[in-house]
Amino acid sequence: MTRIVFCASHTDPRRWIEGLARHLPDSSVTDFDPEDATPADYAVVWAPPAVLFEKQTHLKAIFNLGAGVDALTRMPNLPADVPVVRLGDAGMSVQMAEYVCHAVIRHSRELDRFEADLRCHEWRFRKPTIRAQFPVGVMGLGAIGRRVAGALATFEFPVFGWSLGAHAIPGVQCFCGSEGLAPFLRSVRILVCILPLTAATDSILNRQNLSQLKDDAYLINVARGAHLVDQDLVDLLAEGKLAGATLDVFREEPLPAGHPFWGDARIVMTPHIAARTLREDSLAQIAGKILQLERGLPIDGIVDRARGY
Ligand code: GLV
Repeated sequence: MTRIVFCASHTDPRRWIEGLARHLPDSSVTDFDPEDATPADYAVVWAPPAVLFEKQTHLKAIFNLGAGVDALTRMPNLPADVPVVRLGDAGMSVQMAEYVCHAVIRHSRELDRFEADLRCHEWRFRKPTIRAQFPVGVMGLGAIGRRVAGALATFEFPVFGWSLGAHAIPGVQCFCGSEGLAPFLRSVRILVCILPLTAATDSILNRQNLSQLKDDAYLINVARGAHLVDQDLVDLLAEGKLAGATLDVFREEPLPAGHPFWGDARIVMTPHIAARTLREDSLAQIAGKILQLERGLPIDGIVDRARGY
């Protein structure tokens, strides 16, 4: 019998465990218990404690309940020879496209200003804004980034993309690699970060890079808080280089009391909800991959450990 251990403290495990058992009736699915020494074949996890890999040493694969695997890859005792599988789309791309398009449109159409006027009972028109004056740049062109860039292009924003490797996306002018970063940033007024968090992308949203954006720039970070140097954002807002930001992710979550982002009306914040892990989609995907592996078939979504995503 295939044994699966579930380990995610951010969610009620019961529905996940029941769902996995429903999809895989010939398996035993249990919540991780450090006292239970029964070896499992697969682990389904989100930000697990180190003790999981001390106790479970016979895993055939580790399934991450999200797109970003940085919480796993930074664990010193993550077994080097066990495949780590990230969630592929599972309903996340469309959510991310909605979230980013909403943030871009809210800013570029000045909907935040209209809302503020109306809250003060002021019926005020503004000159129409011009789409061409809001070129948007998407950093990270994986499945999610490509969907976001494509969705922005359908609204006829000038769209630019940047990633480590080369990509071709209809309607999107793509740049790549370190030599492509400066020309990409200089083309962009609204910068969207959807990068995986790796040693190469940690703190990439820093003063040096953000200063290269067009004037009156706007930042949207839906990737990881550690991509952004918080103080650089605070300073660039104070200097007027940046007009504002929409942030869904933070270095420390929940954002600590007293953090300078709290109470700054130019920073729109949400509590890491831009793309939720949808249980049914994720369960079907993970169960399907476990069945494939059990039949000796290849699966997609295995993380390249050297790249970090
Ligand atoms: C969410 O942050 C994810 O990585 O899926």
